[in-house]
Amino acid sequence: MLDQYINLLKSGEVVAFPTETVYGLGADAKNPDAIKKVFEIKGRPSDNPLIVHISDKKQTEDFASKISDDARKLMDGFWPGPLTLIFEKKPQVLDIITAGLDTVALRWPKHPLSQQLIARAGALVAPSANSSGKPSPTKAEHVKEDFGDDFPVVDAGETDIGLESTVLDISSEPYTIYRPGAVSAEEIKKVIGKEVVQDSNSSQDKTAKSPGTKYSHYSPAAKVQWISSGDDTTFVEDALYLLHNRPAPQKSTRVIHYKGDFKKMAHELYDRFRHADHQQLEFVFVEPFSNDQLRNPIVEALQNRISKAIG
Ligand code: TXA
Ligand code: MG
Repeated sequence: MLDQYINLLKSGEVVAFPTETVYGLGADAKNPDAIKKVFEIKGRPSDNPLIVHISDKKQTEDFASKISDDARKLMDGFWPGPLTLIFEKKPQVLDIITAGLDTVALRWPKHPLSQQLIARAGALVAPSANSSGKPSPTKAEHVKEDFGDDFPVVDAGETDIGLESTVLDISSEPYTIYRPGAVSAEEIKKVIGKEVVQDSNSSQDKTAKSPGTKYSHYSPAAKVQWISSGDDTTFVEDALYLLHNRPAPQKSTRVIHYKGDFKKMAHELYDRFRHADHQQLEFVFVEPFSNDQLRNPIVEALQNRISKAIG
C-alpha cells in the first residue's frame, strides 16, 4: 500500500501522511529541491524551520551534533511519541530545514504508517499538512481541502491526538517548551529531574527562538472568541459553541458539549474549526478553562491553540 508513496518521496515529491498528532507534509530530508516544494505548497515563510521525522533513535546521530544524557532520557521516555526535541545541529543538515538556525528539531512519530514510511523512504521533513494559517489537518480530507483532490495522501482516517507535538528545546539550558502538546512539562521534569521553562507565547516577537510561534496559526475564517466567564450564554444563530462544563444555552447541532472530555475536544478541535467555515458561521465561541483544568496538559495545549486562533 505504501509503495507508490515511497516511490514518490524517493523521486523528490511531497506526500502527506498521518502521525498520531496531525497529518504531516513529508519530503526527503536530504533533498533540498523536495523541501523547497514543501514551503511552496504550504505558502510557508522560509524563516520557519521544519521538524525532521525519524524512525529510530540512532537516526538522531545523522542530524544532532551532540546527544546529551538528558536527551537520551527524553528519547527513551517519550519516543516514539508526541515530543519534538531541538538539538544543536550537525553542519551537514540543510539550511532550508533549519531556516539558518544552528539547531534542528527531531521527532519520532508513533503512528505505524508514519514509521513504515520513514523506515523505507528515509528521514522526512514534515510540517503540518495544511496551507499556512489554516488549522492543522486531522483527516485526509482536510489535506485535500487545502491542496486539491489529487494530492497524494496516505489516508489512515482521523489522527489520534488532534493537536501538534510538544516542542522542547534542549540545545541550551534552561530547557524551553516552545509549543505545549500532549507531553507535559511535568512529565518532562519527572524524566530529567530538571525544571523546564515555558515560552509558547512569544507571538509577534521577532526575536522568537522558535520562529513558528510568532505566526498566527490554526485559525478558521470564523472569528474565534472566549465566552466571557460569568456571562449567561445568549445563543447566537450563526455561531458554533464549544462547551465543556457550563450548561448548554439550548439544544442545537451548533452547541457541542464535551462534558469534561478534553481528549475528545483536542481530537476534534481543528475539524470543528473547518466545519464552522463550511457552514459559513461567523463565530466560534469557546468556554474558557479554569486554572484547575489547565493542570491537564491537553487542556494547556487546547488553550494555546485556541488563543492563537483568536489571534
Ligand atoms: O505534531 C507535529 O509536530 C506535526 C506532525 C506532522 O509531526 N508537525 C508540525 O510541524 O506541527 P510544524 O512545522 O507545523 O510545526 C513545527 C514547529 C514550528 O513552530 C517551528 O517553528 C518549530 O516547530 N521548529 C522547528 N524547528 C525548530 C528549531 N530548530 N528551533 C525552534 N523551533 C523550531
Ligand atoms: Mg503547523
